[in-house]
Amino acid sequence: MKILITGGMGFIGSAMVRLAIHEGHTVMNIDCLTYAGNLGNVAQIKDNKNYQQTLADIRDRKSLDKIFTHFQPDAVMHFAAESHVDRSIDGPESFITTNINGTYNLLEAARNYWKNSKCFPSFRFHHISTDEVYGELGETGLFTEKTPYQPSSPYSASKAASDHLVRAWNKTFDLPTLITNCSNNYGPFHFPEKLIPTIILSALHEQEIPIYGDGSNVRDWLYVEDHAKALILTLMKGTTGSTYNIGGFNECSNIDLAIRICEILDELVPRKKAYSKLIQFVKDRPGHDFRYAIDSTKIREELGWKPLVDLDQGLQTTIKWYLENKHWWKPLLEKTPLGKKIDKNLL
Ligand SMILES: NC(=O)c1ccc[n+]([C@@H]2O[C@H](COP(=O)([O-])OP(=O)(O)OC[C@H]3O[C@@H](n4cnc5c(N)ncnc54)[C@H](O)[C@@H]3O)[C@@H](O)[C@H]2O)c1
Repeated sequence: MKILITGGMGFIGSAMVRLAIHEGHTVMNIDCLTYAGNLGNVAQIKDNKNYQQTLADIRDRKSLDKIFTHFQPDAVMHFAAESHVDRSIDGPESFITTNINGTYNLLEAARNYWKNSKCFPSFRFHHISTDEVYGELGETGLFTEKTPYQPSSPYSASKAASDHLVRAWNKTFDLPTLITNCSNNYGPFHFPEKLIPTIILSALHEQEIPIYGDGSNVRDWLYVEDHAKALILTLMKGTTGSTYNIGGFNECSNIDLAIRICEILDELVPRKKAYSKLIQFVKDRPGHDFRYAIDSTKIREELGWKPLVDLDQGLQTTIKWYLENKHWWKPLLEKTPLGKKIDKNLL
């Protein structure tokens, strides 16, 4: 397939680009390289004959139209977004312009292209979203595809809005869309500001490992390559107009996660004191959702997907990757040092 991927220089988008190229698809990666985009994330495949990239902003409709006309995609996979909850609290504007207006632009560019190009009857628009649109769970229960939307943060509200737009473009204009709502991802190439890299890199720098509140918040962790496999399967075999929830079957509280990472580091890079001594509870994030957990029955039963990497395996691989790829994360830490307030100039 010829797949137009937005946000393919980011964490999950680049995993998707690498997998799609590996599977023999032709990819056009469009990304405007915000602070979260990184050319190093696609270095492995940049010279592949099936790979092209264009620096473009999804807020710029004219650029999108040109790219559709030039590349003539069979499918769109839409990852481009502002993705960090803490940044959405400090400065929500780019979350509105990119996640909502940018998605609107992309939908309109895709609709214009699809209705005028009779040669692509199997055209699909796949929107990649988050389980955070469902709000928070208590100690029990799981998010299903029917759970009502109740987003808590500016980030999750902007993603919820974009999901609604995608659904509306399917219902109103018949655009063949797919939506996937996924739990927290982790793995190689994860930007240092996110929880798992923050724990790893703070520990390696023997700095305080900050954990919000009392550390009891629970997330369902999914290894990024398992997510990419679920996405390509959904793109190929999913029923258009549908939503699929994707989860890792790996629920873990933030404090247990930090302790597990510290224990792995104790084995791999021993120091005098256990790394867990560096853990510090810090003032909780406003509106911090207590628990997310996904019911993935639909994608498992309809499409036969299940994650292959469990949390312990995935953490081992991820930590080893950070140990072996200092050249990737060192320049990022120079721009956004660990534990420092976000530099608004980077937004
Ligand atoms: N990270 C997670 O755990 C998670 C979980 C579920 C869903 N998601 C969703 O998956 C998608 C990708 O997440 P991620 O963690 O890879 O994000 P990321 O922040 O690592 O990457 C986002 C990418 O989008 C690009 N981008 C941002 N604004 C753009 C714009 N206006 N025009 C063009 N490109 C732009 C950035 O340069 C970057 O390369 C997002 O839509 C996110 O909501 C993420």
